[in-house]
Amino acid sequence: MLLSEIHKSTKEKFDEFGIQTSEIDSRTIIKKILNLSDKDFIMDTKISLSNKESEYLSKVVLQRLSGKPLSRIFGSKEFFSMKFDVNEFVLDPRPESEILVEKALHLIQENNLKSILELGVGSGCIIAAILSNSIGTKAVGVDISEQAIMTAKSNLIKNGIKNFDLVVSDWGLSLNRAFDIIISNPPYIKTNEIKNLNKNVKDHDPLISLDGGVDGLDCYRVIANQSTQLINEKGYILVEIGHDQAKGVEKIFGNNDFLLTNKVKDYSNLDRVLIFVKKKIKK
Ligand SMILES: C[S@@+](CC[C@H](N)C(=O)[O-])C[C@H]1O[C@@H](n2cnc3c(N)ncnc32)[C@H](O)[C@@H]1O
Repeated sequence: MLLSEIHKSTKEKFDEFGIQTSEIDSRTIIKKILNLSDKDFIMDTKISLSNKESEYLSKVVLQRLSGKPLSRIFGSKEFFSMKFDVNEFVLDPRPESEILVEKALHLIQENNLKSILELGVGSGCIIAAILSNSIGTKAVGVDISEQAIMTAKSNLIKNGIKNFDLVVSDWGLSLNRAFDIIISNPPYIKTNEIKNLNKNVKDHDPLISLDGGVDGLDCYRVIANQSTQLINEKGYILVEIGHDQAKGVEKIFGNNDFLLTNKVKDYSNLDRVLIFVKKKIKK
């Protein structure tokens, strides 16, 4: 059987169920199960599936049709060209969070920032991407979930990263020092909107990584308030936000004497990252 035939029939099944990523999902699954390269795909190699491969393929296709994301089926996800283990205790790393990483790396390089704090590390994808792409930096990452911290630790080690400390903590409560840059992608979905999320998300991402309280902004209130003690005088705070939260989050940080310096859009032209500095208080 030609590879293209297996791909076509798999993709068609996904199309029937309205899976919008049918092309890439089918390709990824087949490549993974048969251990194939992109070149094998282009060459349209002729292959015969063993019974075991055939059964595995059907099982994975069924799981995907039931709404399970590929990262949850295979237990890993690529982020910033690095590989991260994903499990039920951590958020599935999102491509849009790469924007947060890019902006942080730019600020770190431009301003020679050295100490980094990430609030809510989850799988560790953000802090790992920043540390492995900056020189002379050291990071502390916190998460309230002990299992998330264990997952992040294993992911950082697997990616060869050493210059970090990971702490189980309710945001920055257990920290008593200040940092050059604080980064956070906190839970920001309104509690009563969680039930309306796509099955991919609501059935697989941990609630604690999604629930931002009644107006979705609870975590920003705590983070902005704690950041007054956790950020150095010339430091930067970068937060990821929901598409309609820029005004609300700007106000919360403004009330804590932080000034919005940059609002960054994502690939869909929606507000995604806000960057704050300390307001200069006139003496
Ligand atoms: C949206 S997820 C982001 C995870 C990861 N940084 C990423 O972008 O993939 C938010 C993270 O914040 C953590 N979290 C929620 N409440 C927290 C709290 N009170 N203190 C510390 N971390 C918290 C969750 O466990 C979760 O890992």
